Amino acid sequence: MTLAQDPTALKALHEELSQQLKQQTANRLSLDLTRGKPSAEQLSLSNALEDQIRGDFKSRDGVDTRNYGGIRGLSEARELGAELLGVDAAQVIAFGNSSLALMHLAATTALNKGLWGNERRWHNSPGVKMLTPVPGYDRHFSLCEQLGIEMVCVPMLDTGPDMAVAANLAAADPSIKGIWCVPKYSNPTGCIYSDATVASMAELPSKAAADDFVVFWDNAYAVHDLVQPPATLASLAEAATAAGNDDHILQFASTSKITFAGAGLSFIAASDLVLKQLEQQIGFSTIGPDKVNQLRHARFLDGRLQAHMAAHAELLRPKFDLVQQSLKEGLAGWDIATWTVPKGGYFVSLDTQDNMASAVIAKAKAAGLALTAAGATYPYGADPNDCNVRIAPTFASLDELHAAMQVFLLCLKLTALEKRLAI
Ligand SMILES: Cc1ncc(COP(=O)(O)O)c(C=O)c1O
Repeated sequence: MTLAQDPTALKALHEELSQQLKQQTANRLSLDLTRGKPSAEQLSLSNALEDQIRGDFKSRDGVDTRNYGGIRGLSEARELGAELLGVDAAQVIAFGNSSLALMHLAATTALNKGLWGNERRWHNSPGVKMLTPVPGYDRHFSLCEQLGIEMVCVPMLDTGPDMAVAANLAAADPSIKGIWCVPKYSNPTGCIYSDATVASMAELPSKAAADDFVVFWDNAYAVHDLVQPPATLASLAEAATAAGNDDHILQFASTSKITFAGAGLSFIAASDLVLKQLEQQIGFSTIGPDKVNQLRHARFLDGRLQAHMAAHAELLRPKFDLVQQSLKEGLAGWDIATWTVPKGGYFVSLDTQDNMASAVIAKAKAAGLALTAAGATYPYGADPNDCNVRIAPTFASLDELHAAMQVFLLCLKLTALEKRLAI
């Protein structure tokens, strides 16, 4: 069956698919493809974290991790951050359990204090703005909204943000102070920034009209490869050094999707000058991080990060394959959606025909399937074409995921038929 059929056949198809969806609803489903969380099986891969201390609380440098102090974090934890981000450990602060919290700290510091120990602070300009590649990560958007930072959209291409658009916007408006990036397995499209994009990103602070422009490089999926050999990402740090912009890039990572999402480590990498400012800010709110957890993580992942991520990939690959297979088979001949085929990360991004996504998501909700809210991948929740749906397959079991994809496909097809038949 395809949408090219005559209206009578389409109505019959609509009736048939509606019945199928009713049956699914009668099963009282409670399915959730919203947040990119690791599954219980994935979390269990790191249960041996528990065994890493066993009364030995001393770090490699002889630090008693039970006590206060050490804002920048243990050497071995900083080395783990450096491994994730591909930088020197001296450029890393290991702090807390959430890279998002570090992004918040960096943004508030840039706004209120400045990152360079001088007069440059974002709040000196009226109407601070940041560039937001779209579709993008909803929590970057809500962070901006909460801090009163206006968002200016830049389209995402297969190679990363459209750098010509980003450079023109930044060059034309001194109140544009930064850009959000998820450079590897981007949330939600799964794309990897090309070498040319990384090079342009490193040069962007020099092209910007603002002299306090900052690249927020959120490398949340740096080692989250599904296939081997893994995709490579060029080094922003090296490109920034070549461009003379070391002081204008901030890199973030965490172990949230490596060990325990709620009890991991997070990292920020920056130049000496910027690290000093951030260290000072952190020091106003705490006397030091949880170094026991840092020690636990450093010992657990020492020399086995790759093997550990391969074990994650074993669990995740069947789920991503199932999503691809369901979409390919279920939508064959329909021509109503396109979707990404990521080689890593946590999401599949699907674009429906225009003006369908919110209806599909509402229909799925009524059938017991929770999908990320319509518009969530755009600032202010406003998807201009109402077409983007983010699918997060990691948390559900394979059986649940199969059921969820069947419901999703029915909702997508029914919405397309209703649009076509104007019902
Ligand atoms: C792009 C991106 N950055 C950051 C985070 C959150 O990271 P953390 O748990 O370190 O705060 C996520 C979680 O989904 C994410 O997708």
